[in-house]
Amino acid sequence: MTEELETIDPQERFQEFFKTEKYRQKISQLAVSGKTSLIVDFEELLIFDNRLAEELKEKPDEYLKHANNAAYAQLQTEDPEYAEKIADKEEIVTVRIVRLLDVAQLRKLGSDHIGKLVMIEGIVVRSTPVRPMVMRAAFKCKRCGEITPIDQTGQFLKAPFACSNPSCGAKGMFDFVQEESTFIDSQDLRIQERPEDLPPGQLPRTLHVKLVGGEIVDVARPGDHVSIVGVVRAVSPTLPRVGKFRTFILHVDANSIEVLGKEPEIAIPSPEEEEKILELSKDAWIHRKIMNSIAPSIYGYEHIKEALMYLLFGGVPKNLPDITIRGEMNALLIGDPGTAKSQLLQYVARIAPRGLYTSGRGTTAAGLTAAVIREKGGGMSLEAGALVLADKGIACIDEMDKMRPEDRVAIHEAMEQHTVSVAKGGIVATLNARTAILAAANPALGRYEPHRNVAENISLPVTILSRFDLIFVVRDVPNKEVDDKMSEHILEIHKKGSSPVEPPIPSELLRKYISYAKGIKPALTKEALQRLKDFYLAMRLASESESSPVAITARQLESLVRIAEARARAALRKEVLAEDAEAAIGIMKRSLEEVGIDVSSYKLDIDILMTGKPKSMRDKLQIILSTLMTMEKETGMVEKAALLSELETKYKVPIGDGERLLGQLLREGTIYEPREGYLKKT
Ligand SMILES: Nc1ncnc2c1ncn2[C@@H]1O[C@H](COP(=O)(O)OP(=O)(O)OP(=O)(O)O)[C@@H](O)[C@H]1O
Ligand SMILES: [Mg+2]
Ligand SMILES: [Zn+2]
Repeated sequence: MTEELETIDPQERFQEFFKTEKYRQKISQLAVSGKTSLIVDFEELLIFDNRLAEELKEKPDEYLKHANNAAYAQLQTEDPEYAEKIADKEEIVTVRIVRLLDVAQLRKLGSDHIGKLVMIEGIVVRSTPVRPMVMRAAFKCKRCGEITPIDQTGQFLKAPFACSNPSCGAKGMFDFVQEESTFIDSQDLRIQERPEDLPPGQLPRTLHVKLVGGEIVDVARPGDHVSIVGVVRAVSPTLPRVGKFRTFILHVDANSIEVLGKEPEIAIPSPEEEEKILELSKDAWIHRKIMNSIAPSIYGYEHIKEALMYLLFGGVPKNLPDITIRGEMNALLIGDPGTAKSQLLQYVARIAPRGLYTSGRGTTAAGLTAAVIREKGGGMSLEAGALVLADKGIACIDEMDKMRPEDRVAIHEAMEQHTVSVAKGGIVATLNARTAILAAANPALGRYEPHRNVAENISLPVTILSRFDLIFVVRDVPNKEVDDKMSEHILEIHKKGSSPVEPPIPSELLRKYISYAKGIKPALTKEALQRLKDFYLAMRLASESESSPVAITARQLESLVRIAEARARAALRKEVLAEDAEAAIGIMKRSLEEVGIDVSSYKLDIDILMTGKPKSMRDKLQIILSTLMTMEKETGMVEKAALLSELETKYKVPIGDGERLLGQLLREGTIYEPREGYLKKT
């Protein structure tokens, strides 16, 4: 840098920058949009004058003022009329800097950054409604009526020390006059590190951001990924009557805010990686290879790993003019304790391009969906929960059965419409939650009861259960052969301290492979379509002829399409083939069987999910109850043996079935045993 440059007035230098063609144009367009913000690309300033740009970063308070003044001066030449107009409203041109070259790590912000201009990226987790903030407050003297204006800067409203009327000079007797004060819109945000920026195993950090100015408030909503340029401030909290703390709290006064693209950052593979990815995709056994690379340390569960593969790749969302159909899949694992459910969830959260692991209760006050919370300093703000934060990613929700009652209500919308709506405490908002869900839950009674169906085994409403594309039951049943192999597998891991099974695809490459595949939008071929249709119609027909209500609904048909698309994607294919449709039908059947097989007729019956009981079983339970009630009228208490033989002779219910169904009614509390061997309806 030359000596000469140093003596140049920064404001003049900024104005020279604003005289360049591009910025002259931008400035003359301000009037058209009726705005007062001038967006300046930092890189362009850097190219124009490296030194000036660096000074701006070092001393933003001083240099932003120079920039604003220069921009206003230039506006006076470009469009004197508009310049006058905004001056009348006591406004100036505000220069807003975007795209600093380097992103400051949220967790590394510290004392070195105080007073400096930085750029941070993160997710908005909380936002207050837009609130007016007074910039210049007018105070009316109670004695003489003189108005004294006071420019406001700090956190609290400042009144004049004494009346500005020289012949009065009264102290501390003022009324705030709203009509004569000037206000500006303000909003507070809390932003959090993005899951993709988080060092493994670390809790995300958050930072408070203050937005002032009508053109930057209300730009971002909770769940949005944003890039904010602003000045780092340190403020010490005050304790009333005690004083200020010596440790300061950091926040950022935003100069500009941009909502970033919603897509997770696609890790662009290097040319060598791309070659590897393309080569892998041509492998005839690619699906098996991927499945075997998913949590290789977990033994068994091949069908679940297959489902996880589909979940990771996902289907193609359909945005029709009138409706949108989600492409993301939802899967649920229900099962006994200690069956590696949590491990599988954590693995998926790690490998997914934007994965988030949380427990049903959520890790914040907002739980799984969103909440309106009361701030310490008064006022309300809207906080995003896990599903909103995992927008466009995979939310792995462990212990889903233990979610908060508010989430139980709100999660329906999130799972099907992919939005979360909030209307509370004056805040009305709809947030995006376009996420795939992988959930785990324990059976209500601690262990899965095979005699009961899914709805009875889990304390989740069927309306939530029916929104899962796939549900699997994980049971811990002693089995000599499996136990033998599994214990060997687990002990081997502990002995070696590493997985005995090397994944065929290393996890870093798999992650890139998945993110690469997301760019492909496979379409159904005629053959695939035909297979899905045949299956669907066959299932519908089966229920028609046997007068069971619905064996399968349109929901399952959409699930099948998603699964088939995901399978095509996993092979980087643009076409969904018949084999994809077949695999989708296979895994869907398996899931339906696990949760919904009608034990008495061996026919799939989705009715179990909807009502908690298969149709034929419901019919039988109905018969048992009515028989019991008829017999009760005659004898009071009903002898169990008599009831069973009556059921067998009159209704052909085998004694074994009868006993099992009676057991179920007893557990449910519909009937009870007043005396050993006798029954009565409750
Ligand atoms: N099939 C398996 N292969 C390897 N390890 C297993 C397997 N099943 C269970 N484990 C091991 O058992 C432990 C318990 O698993 P985990 O905590 O994931 O169980 P969980 O299903 O989440 O149980 P809970 O329902 O009680 O939360 C883990 O350390 C896991 O590695
Ligand atoms: Mg667990
Ligand atoms: Zn006065």
